[in-house]
Amino acid sequence: MASITLLILAIILSFRTSGATSRGGLFEASAVTEKHEQWMARFHRVYSEESEKTNRFEIFKKNLEFVERHNMNTNITYKLDVNQFSDLTEEEFRARYTGVVVPEGVTRISSPDSDKKVSFRHENVSETGESMDWRQEGAVTSVKNQGQCGVCWAFSAVAAVEGITKIEKGELISLSEQQLVDCGRDINYGCKGWIMSEAFQYIINNQGITSEDNYPYLASQQTCSSTDPVAATISSYETVPSNDEEELLKAVSQQPVSVTIDGAGLEFQQYKSGIFDGDCGTDPNHAVAIIGYGVSEEGINYWLLKNSWGETWGENGYMRIMRGVDAPEGKCGLARYAYYPLA
Ligand SMILES: *[C@@H]1O[C@H](CO)[C@@H](O)[C@H](O)[C@H]1NC(C)=O
Ligand SMILES: *[C@@H]1O[C@H](CO)[C@@H](O)[C@H](O)[C@H]1NC(C)=O
Repeated sequence: MASITLLILAIILSFRTSGATSRGGLFEASAVTEKHEQWMARFHRVYSEESEKTNRFEIFKKNLEFVERHNMNTNITYKLDVNQFSDLTEEEFRARYTGVVVPEGVTRISSPDSDKKVSFRHENVSETGESMDWRQEGAVTSVKNQGQCGVCWAFSAVAAVEGITKIEKGELISLSEQQLVDCGRDINYGCKGWIMSEAFQYIINNQGITSEDNYPYLASQQTCSSTDPVAATISSYETVPSNDEEELLKAVSQQPVSVTIDGAGLEFQQYKSGIFDGDCGTDPNHAVAIIGYGVSEEGINYWLLKNSWGETWGENGYMRIMRGVDAPEGKCGLARYAYYPLA
């Protein structure tokens, strides 16, 4: 018995010692070099030129320091961690991994200054409950990865269509983002941004969308090829009144909703866990799906977001983010442009 106690004590002590050592040496070049090597191995990063490696190392170091400084703070609701994006600058990250453009003329949305509210299907929902997680209802496919292609809008739209298809038809089918990327825009946009409402409009006009299996994702625009057989259809889509988290809550209580967000900041980029409350603006550059909401153990209200950056970002690909903030646009502007499809 005594020896077990001693063993446990020894383990605790050695853990604390090594923790203290690595923290002390955190910003020393050798420690950072080692972390960079480990990180390169973990994310299979290979740099062909030594100069490129030096350059990337410096960016990695800045990001690592940013992450460690944030996590040392005791008064925080969320943690950061280095991830697959940690050798990119904020500007590079924004250019490669986001991808929402709100086209001129998308004015069907009620503007912040307008007191006229658009009517929408879920406007009279009165019972939203304390929490909702559409994953538990089987209405969310596994987290996908847009790769280095700015087509978040396609992933956001597809997540909402997958959700309503499961809710209305009882079947969860992974649907094709690539079809939207190849066939949903009449111009050669490549990996450039677009908006989910236009993706829904394409699915309506096309009388459906095929499955992921039938038309897999390639992370670049290709020529539109056969989209048969149809795996899901929608009849229309609706816009949630802009800048109103209460209205958004009604919608999300009924189905997953596509929203735009400012996802380009260093904190958002390296979010690991907890309830996100980092720096961000309200101008949209990224899109995600809101697949639920709840209240944390500490009593903080949050939205549950499904992202398209793979499972190594955030809480296995998901983010919890502050809900009911002071700004009408919502945290990072998530309540500005919100849409959902109808079966
Ligand atoms: C902790 O953070 C909250 C929210 O940012 C702030 O209101 C509060 O004053 C902070 N508390 C301390 C002790 O810094
Ligand atoms: C919500 O209720 C109002 C008032 O009863 C009604 O006019 C409106 O049509 C309802 N909306 C929907 C989508 O059912």
